[in-house]
Amino acid sequence: MSSTKALSETQMLTAVKAAQAKAYAPYSKFPVGAAIAGPNGEIFSGCNVENASYPEGNCAETSAIAAMVMAGVTQIDEIYVIGNGDGLVSPCGGCRQRIREFAHANTTVHICGPEGVRAVIAFHELLPNSFGPEHVLASKE
Ligand code: THU
Repeated sequence: MSSTKALSETQMLTAVKAAQAKAYAPYSKFPVGAAIAGPNGEIFSGCNVENASYPEGNCAETSAIAAMVMAGVTQIDEIYVIGNGDGLVSPCGGCRQRIREFAHANTTVHICGPEGVRAVIAFHELLPNSFGPEHVLASKE
């Protein structure tokens, strides 16, 4: 389950900052970037994409997950998220569940600000006792 080719924090920070720079956030003016480290040393990134019909926008994590799946990868080893301001830009509730789909016991969330990584949190701490694919798949057996 662990990475065969570990990516450096520097590589991931470069990717997540580049993703944030692509954000389409004219309404909130809160650009967010996300970058996923996959199992083979790949990086999949995404940004928030807002919409004039506000609820139809999507988060950076959601965009990065879509890029990962399009590349044929379905495992998140690490996810970096970056936002501006002083707070910890932690994945929203909906994105926690989306990450859960592809997370494993050692998946980590790296919360970043402009100056770098602010916190590294085990994913299972962000969504304890969660519902995942195994619950649905086991019910079909
Ligand atoms: N946002 C993300 O992209 N990821 C998060 O985890 C939190 C919030 C975006 C959604 C919206 O475009 C903007 O930040 C302000 O909420």
